[in-house]
Amino acid sequence: MYNLLKGKKGIIFGALNEDSIAWKVAERAHEEGATFVLTNAPIAMRMGAINQLAKDTGSEIIPADATSMEDLENLVEKSMEVLGGKIDFVLHSIGMSINVRKGKHYTQSNYDFTHKGFDVSALSFHRVMNVLYNKKAMNDWGSIVALTYMAAQRVFPDYNDMADNKAYLESVARSFGYFFGRDHKVRVNTISQSPTPTTAGSGVKGFGGFLSYAEKMSPLGNATALECADYTISLFSDLTKKVTLQNLFHDGGFSNMGISDVIMEGFMDGEEE
Ligand SMILES: NC(=O)c1ccc[n+]([C@@H]2O[C@H](COP(=O)([O-])OP(=O)(O)OC[C@H]3O[C@@H](n4cnc5c(N)ncnc54)[C@H](O)[C@@H]3O)[C@@H](O)[C@H]2O)c1
Repeated sequence: MYNLLKGKKGIIFGALNEDSIAWKVAERAHEEGATFVLTNAPIAMRMGAINQLAKDTGSEIIPADATSMEDLENLVEKSMEVLGGKIDFVLHSIGMSINVRKGKHYTQSNYDFTHKGFDVSALSFHRVMNVLYNKKAMNDWGSIVALTYMAAQRVFPDYNDMADNKAYLESVARSFGYFFGRDHKVRVNTISQSPTPTTAGSGVKGFGGFLSYAEKMSPLGNATALECADYTISLFSDLTKKVTLQNLFHDGGFSNMGISDVIMEGFMDGEEE
């Protein structure tokens, strides 16, 4: 490993189990020399898997519901105590749609579900940055990253209201990122990741077929959770200090493709190749 995060302190949201992208980020951050606090919603902790990750990475766990300002304030204050100073990096790796979970079609949204999903998946990013900003909790040249998906730009019908949540999330990265950059030299970016087999990902209808489609469309194939973690580490490191306000595609090239040979083959019946 490269000691890319040696001496850096962080907060990592969203490690639910071994499949979680945040789990891989925590493992990689540890390998690169960082110390950090792990956090998740109190209800997600009941499964207990996070305890193993905390043990393996020498981290403390501080529960926080990302929709609660009180929880987030407590998290940021306690993290600075535990880590012995201000924060250098934060990962927001949180997503949940009740409309998706309950199989509600986009055209038949239950708006109570929509509100809740928006609060958890999108507004929470504003809340996290609000608390970090107002408590002056970030070190100069720190880095904040949230995870997103390309349904913010293009139509993927079964992604449902998560598409709208991601559009808001990406916009907040730019809007809050401006003030964070201007006032504290902190950069804020979103990583737009390939479909990835995790608990949140697999909840989307038709996920298996979609995963294969993206794999065949992308010249480099889908990016894995571990590869996403590697990219995230680079954004937390000092090697990317002037990258900010960006939505960065980490998808094997999928987002710039129109058609690939292998997808085309399925439509070439009877025609000369
Ligand atoms: N899996 C994919 O295909 C994919 C693709 C692109 C982007 N993403 C994004 O990556 C991020 C991480 O998701 P993942 O795929 O690792 O799945 P995951 O299910 O492992 O992670 C989602 C996390 O959100 C947490 N969460 C839910 N409600 C919360 C709350 N109120 N407060 C705090 N945390 C809460 C869950 O406990 C869980 O740890 C999400 O933003 C997701 O939208 C995933």
